Amino acid sequence: MSEMNLVHVKAPNCWINDPNGFIYYKGLYHLFYQCFPYSTQWGRMHWGHAVSKDLVHWEHKGIALYPSKTDDRSGCFSGSAIEHDGKLYLFYTGVNYAQEDPENINLCLNDKFTAAQLMITSEDGFHFDNIRDKKTIIPPIANSRIGCSNHTRDPKVWRGKDAWYMVVGSTVDHQGRALIFKSDDLEHWTFLNFATQDHWGWGWECPDYFEVDGAKLLVFSPMDFLKDEKPYNSVPICSQVSFNEETGEMKIPDDYQMLDYGCDLYAPQSTTDQEGRRMLTAWVRMPEAVDGRWNGMFCIPRLVEVKDGHIYFRPHPAIAERFTKSITSPKEAGEAGYKLSLTMEEGEEISIGGYKLGLSGGRIHADRSGVFAGHDELKSQFETPVLREGSHLDIYVDANFIEVYINNGEYVLSNTVYGLTDQITAKGYTMTTLAD
Ligand code: FRU
Repeated sequence: MSEMNLVHVKAPNCWINDPNGFIYYKGLYHLFYQCFPYSTQWGRMHWGHAVSKDLVHWEHKGIALYPSKTDDRSGCFSGSAIEHDGKLYLFYTGVNYAQEDPENINLCLNDKFTAAQLMITSEDGFHFDNIRDKKTIIPPIANSRIGCSNHTRDPKVWRGKDAWYMVVGSTVDHQGRALIFKSDDLEHWTFLNFATQDHWGWGWECPDYFEVDGAKLLVFSPMDFLKDEKPYNSVPICSQVSFNEETGEMKIPDDYQMLDYGCDLYAPQSTTDQEGRRMLTAWVRMPEAVDGRWNGMFCIPRLVEVKDGHIYFRPHPAIAERFTKSITSPKEAGEAGYKLSLTMEEGEEISIGGYKLGLSGGRIHADRSGVFAGHDELKSQFETPVLREGSHLDIYVDANFIEVYINNGEYVLSNTVYGLTDQITAKGYTMTTLAD
């Protein structure tokens, strides 16, 4: 398989969800992802694999991990990558269904399965020995006061001062939590502590801890977080936390930022780029397959920065700096899509191919009801918090996904769309596409 993608990585004729094992390794960006290779719906999970030299051109490399052990017989769930002594290490959650759905053995009955944490390595980032090289490093959690044997998943590993650390999402008493483990050798892991917050979702998925600009951040995806909203009410959030490596104690304050105010992104994962800057990407949820062929893609990698206590997410410069070719109509844009830049005034409303954006009460609001293929079961109207510093928008428009970066990442609002037209109703904008 050598399917290529430009700018946005998209499902290669199948279903994909979370980004996994995102890493710059031996001169290439590797992006693995949750994948069900046989249809456009979620099923027994594999890890798909795509690589890129520049974050712009992506090449799909087929399947890297597939179920092969008792512990992952029902799927290789999400996880992360690190490099150590020149080798690539992948950590992931293996699941084993208590009962398969007899009508579709790729699904589980009653949502009951066991979840263990596994590891596999590679010398080059391309070859994985699914039969001989997988190791279970943390068996299903036995102590239900610590975590859940079922819903404990998505290991994210990082190097601390003197040891390796892992954070895993879990749940106890219907409240989400993040479990912290420590290891000296990447194989033997000791439970240290857990972090939680009252009423922030019943279970946490895809936790990710890192430091940036002197701040310690926890990004995670609490399930059923926005209780008063239509689905998707599980959205990723980000908080500035404290973390003590000795004790594993992590304190999460009461406040958080949403990663994206469009509510379509989920399960973000961060890594460092070629220059050591922190960036992340996330799964773009789509309620229906495009052309009946593929479902799921990833947002543009976003640099994460903290300034004056606020977390910014701006499009990675490797992409932003290449949108320099001026065009006069979306028709001139190719697969990379196009970018509109403009400054909005209070009370102004614009339309991008039927997708509506406006500024009122100091907030950017969006309405995708005209370009969402009649999916009324999902939310169509969105808004940001009140903007702090102006109202400049950089809007990246892909045929199925619009990303609105406000004030260079102060807030981001992105939405899945279907059937955009080429008509733009707005004033004073510049339009560019990817330079050759
Ligand atoms: C998040 C998630 C993860 C899990 C994976 C399974 O979208 O539910 O928690 O590992 O997807 O595909």
